[in-house]
This record gives sequence, C-alpha cells and structure tokens, in this order.
Amino acid sequence: MLKTCDILDEKDKRLRQVSKEVTFPLTNDDKKLIDIMIQYLHDSQIDELAEKYNLRPGMGLSAIQLGVAKRFFVVVYELTGPDDLEKEFETYVLVNPKIISNSMEKIYVTDGEGCLSVNRSVEGIVPRYARVTVEAYDMDGNKIQVRAREDLAICFQHEIDHLNGILFVDHIDKNNPFKGKDSMRAI
Ligand code: NI
Repeated sequence: MLKTCDILDEKDKRLRQVSKEVTFPLTNDDKKLIDIMIQYLHDSQIDELAEKYNLRPGMGLSAIQLGVAKRFFVVVYELTGPDDLEKEFETYVLVNPKIISNSMEKIYVTDGEGCLSVNRSVEGIVPRYARVTVEAYDMDGNKIQVRAREDLAICFQHEIDHLNGILFVDHIDKNNPFKGKDSMRAI
C-alpha cells in the first residue's frame, strides 16, 4: 500500500526530470504501480480511510511523483456531490498523454491548486485552459481521446506538467501572485 510519505516532495530533484514515453506492453511493475496509485487516490478521498491510513487527499498522481520517470498519470475523479451518501468515482489512467486542443477561455482555482508533492498551501493564480482534449493511450495500448472541462481539465493539465518536470507553483508570478485575475474565470 502506498503511503503519503512515499510521494516525492517538491524539494526532490527527481520531480524536475522530463519523463520518458512509455512503450507497450506495460511492464508488470508499471501495472502494479498504477494499481497502488488508484488505490491511494480512491482511499484518500474517503474520509474514514484517509483518517485511518493517514492519507493526504488528492485526485491525481503522476508516476514521477513516485520516482518513476515514465509518461503516465492516474486521476480518480469524484462524480458525486456533497449530499450523496456514497461517493462514486471515475478513474483515468492516461499513458503518453498530449493536449491536442484547448479552449481559448482560461480559468483558475480560487483556493489555489494543490499537489501531493507540495506540502504547503500556496496562494496565487495558476492559469489553465477551461477545456482540453487529451489524446493518450490506455493501459492496453489503445489510443483514446478524453475531453475534460473545469476541475478535471485543470487536473489533466497539472498532471501533464508533472511529466514535463513542472510544478503548479512554477506558474505563479512571485511578485504578483494574482496577476491576470480579471482576464480569467475563477472556479
Ligand atoms: Ni501534483
């Protein structure tokens, strides 16, 4: 089982490498890694499990955050609202992902973006496309296209950044963290 302390911290230089394209079939180690990433992200969003196993909640993880410099990430996206009794999730495993189209409109997360590798709250605007279409491969090597909007679109852009050695904090203007606020929509 993956623990929060297994996730590389922002100070770790390995997070700055550009991850390498994956060839198919995936290795058994990659498949096992994907399984434990999914499990972590799922459990971390269930309050009782997060508390029991001391998991920091997160919806996305890239392989490089576990020290594996390969171009894939996992997202476990909550579909249910706050009043639903049981949470439901959609799981995405995207291998060699590329953004093939994006909206002109940009958005940002009002409360600031979060990252399992950044253990502090960081204020400021991270400009993201409101909608993206991502082309990628699934775990079996089939080409897929996924369209995402709003928070899911932000999540995909955040994870693709990880594959290029970029962290969300890099996008924030140090001298003016809220620069461009009025030209983007807050979500
Ligand atoms: Ni992250």
